[in-house]
Amino acid sequence: MQASPLRKLAATAEARKKQGIKVYHLNIGQPDLPTASIVYETIYNLGKPTLAYAPSAGIIQTISAWKNYFKHVGIDFQEDEIIVTSGGSEAIIFAMCSICDAGDEIIVFEPFYTNYNGFATIADVNLHPVPLSISNGFHLPDVSEIEPHINERTKGILFTNPSNPTGTIYTKDELKRLVMIAKKYNLFLLSDEVYREFNFDSDFYSIMNFEEVRNQAILLDSCSKRFNVCGARIGALASHNKDIINSAFKFAMARLSVATIEQLAIIPLLNNPDEYITPIVNEFRKRRDVVYEYLKTIPNITYYKPEGAFYIVIGLPVDDSEKFCRWLIEDFEYNKETVLIAPAQGFYATPGKGANEVRLAFTIKTEELLKALQIIKVALEKYNKK
Ligand SMILES: Cc1ncc(COP(=O)(O)O)c(C=O)c1O
Repeated sequence: MQASPLRKLAATAEARKKQGIKVYHLNIGQPDLPTASIVYETIYNLGKPTLAYAPSAGIIQTISAWKNYFKHVGIDFQEDEIIVTSGGSEAIIFAMCSICDAGDEIIVFEPFYTNYNGFATIADVNLHPVPLSISNGFHLPDVSEIEPHINERTKGILFTNPSNPTGTIYTKDELKRLVMIAKKYNLFLLSDEVYREFNFDSDFYSIMNFEEVRNQAILLDSCSKRFNVCGARIGALASHNKDIINSAFKFAMARLSVATIEQLAIIPLLNNPDEYITPIVNEFRKRRDVVYEYLKTIPNITYYKPEGAFYIVIGLPVDDSEKFCRWLIEDFEYNKETVLIAPAQGFYATPGKGANEVRLAFTIKTEELLKALQIIKVALEKYNKK
């Protein structure tokens, strides 16, 4: 079981702070904005005499709220097609367990969200990586480049759209390729859309909009990012495929239930999503623009304009980004400040890949982002003179 590579350098960062160095955290996808007060008001007003287990598939009002939310974003689900999960994380694990026997394979596009590795270990499933390239902003390759990765043990394709760690949003045409492959090889499509609203330049197209894979698509979702409620741990698995829902429900029964208080607390958010999501997305669009503009001033790096989420993978003129990130946090300072960034190796399954790439998360305010980027720029100059 892998340790989270994102947290590896965190202990060093804490030690550095004790030495009086300010550390900008660009390493973790935990949004910094405040949670809507209605969440806490709902909790204060609950007054339940007994804090009971919720039903395994979710509290009925929470399921209805998810249904309303999905309808709002143009996806029609019935209540019995939705299972409330403990974050998107549990939805992904349930989906893997539901489509695979032990030792089966799921295709992922690398770089991918690093916890997929951990989820696959829990589910006893092998992830089979298909490489993407920074040269086209990590968009999907042609069908002919995906097909050779399919074998008799392949059960599905798992993809994040919009993507963590790259911020890429797949176009309708790219999704069509996946739909075509899923039809041809009878595969499930596991669409992780936890960043759905973080699409900055165009309309977002969901895999659920393709009728032809109605029975093969599984939607994996979460309140965490779009509502700034990562600690509430509320997600959902949704599918029109009754067998998948029945199977996921068995896993849900085995873990009894998702936290009752949090399920109730997020209902107002799901029932009225725009009010809460729009300001958050506007803030992240601003941050994306600030980062993209600043990157233009750093020599010899490779980058692109991320279309969504709140991440970017950039190529650096260094031989080993892990070494560079460690040096940044252990040894470097600029005006008594430094940054913590994530080496990209942890987002790849293929050894050696991502060795000169890092991921930045835009989870601090724009003024701080600018300072952090300046530190990276100065640090790169110094590192390459060493
Ligand atoms: C792509 C992606 N999927 C799923 C998750 C899981 O989030 P949660 O379990 O909080 O819903 C994350 C969290 O960072 C993520 O980036």
